[in-house]
Amino acid sequence: MKTIFSGIQPSGIPTIGNYIGAMKQFVQLQNDYHCFFCIVDEHAITVPQDRLKLRKQILQLASLYLAVGIDPEKATVFIQSEVPAHAEAAWIVQCNTSLGELERMTQFKDKSQKAGSTSVSAGLLTYPPLMVADIILYNADLVPVGEDQKQHLELTRDFVERFNSRYAEKQNQPLLVLPEVKIPDKNAGGRVMSLQDPTKKMSKSDSNSKGFISMLDEPDVIRKKIRSAVTDSSGNIEYDVENKPGISNLLVIYSSLSDFTIGELVEKYATAGYAEFKNDLAEVVVNVLEPIQTRYNELLTSEELQIILDEGAIEASKVANKTLRKMKNAVGLGRKAKR
Ligand code: TYM
Repeated sequence: MKTIFSGIQPSGIPTIGNYIGAMKQFVQLQNDYHCFFCIVDEHAITVPQDRLKLRKQILQLASLYLAVGIDPEKATVFIQSEVPAHAEAAWIVQCNTSLGELERMTQFKDKSQKAGSTSVSAGLLTYPPLMVADIILYNADLVPVGEDQKQHLELTRDFVERFNSRYAEKQNQPLLVLPEVKIPDKNAGGRVMSLQDPTKKMSKSDSNSKGFISMLDEPDVIRKKIRSAVTDSSGNIEYDVENKPGISNLLVIYSSLSDFTIGELVEKYATAGYAEFKNDLAEVVVNVLEPIQTRYNELLTSEELQIILDEGAIEASKVANKTLRKMKNAVGLGRKAKR
């Protein structure tokens, strides 16, 4: 069975962008792959976090993983910082990655430009090597993510090829597994856009909460946010990302959360106005999120959640430590460990 690794930052409450781009795929893939789904809390501290809020968000994300349907019998769910191998492997990755590669990452360029170089943490620059470490430690064959992570996956593949060619004793026996990326198409939700600025990605850390729908938003909040989503003045429900990004984004969300294709929706709403379309979309979103929220509320404070995370960290450590040992042996750290 092939292996999957993916992670989500507990830097806020996941949005329907995270759900459509990532979590929904996780649930579908867990039946056919050996899966590791991680709460990447070490990634979250690349920008300042309130420590109590962060701790709460870690558990909220863990509950949401399970509430959307990830089955701990099939997949390992765990918290990154509870498996120390991630930070250790990330150091080896950093030492085998050039500064230029990291400075070229668009996410780093965007975030550092916004914040100004003195207030940007070094971790924001060295975050992709930590992500590389996450993936390689589990020998992941496939990494399901949204479109914004594509460049980081390219960096991961470049690193694996470089590491294998530098350190593998026999080139036909690679040390690390070369992962493939799995991204939904744009019109299938690989990049869900902000409701307030449909040229920008929907983000859980957006300072304008009207731009995203959090997976824990109350039904009335969801309805209000969708009603106030930016569209255009034509009033025609058509899929045209270039000229009508707002309504096109809403069509993507509707189609991703229902059984309708975008084409079918355009036909269904051919004579309708935006208000009717938005009302129906709001009910679709509420119907998807309500049962998830009910299950989430049962899990959040449960003993069951704690046990799943404890067992997840043990299971993940076993696999991660084995790869870390291989990496340390390869680069010559410490005394040669027995495999
Ligand atoms: P994060 O926490 O920003 O997002 C988690 C997942 O959700 C996807 N996503 C989206 N998909 C569609 N539309 C959107 N608007 C949208 N926003 C986010 C992301 O692509 C991602 O799949 N660096 C990663 C976390 C990470 C990771 C990893 C992922 C750390 N280590 C190893 C995979 C493998 C991140 O910040 O995701």
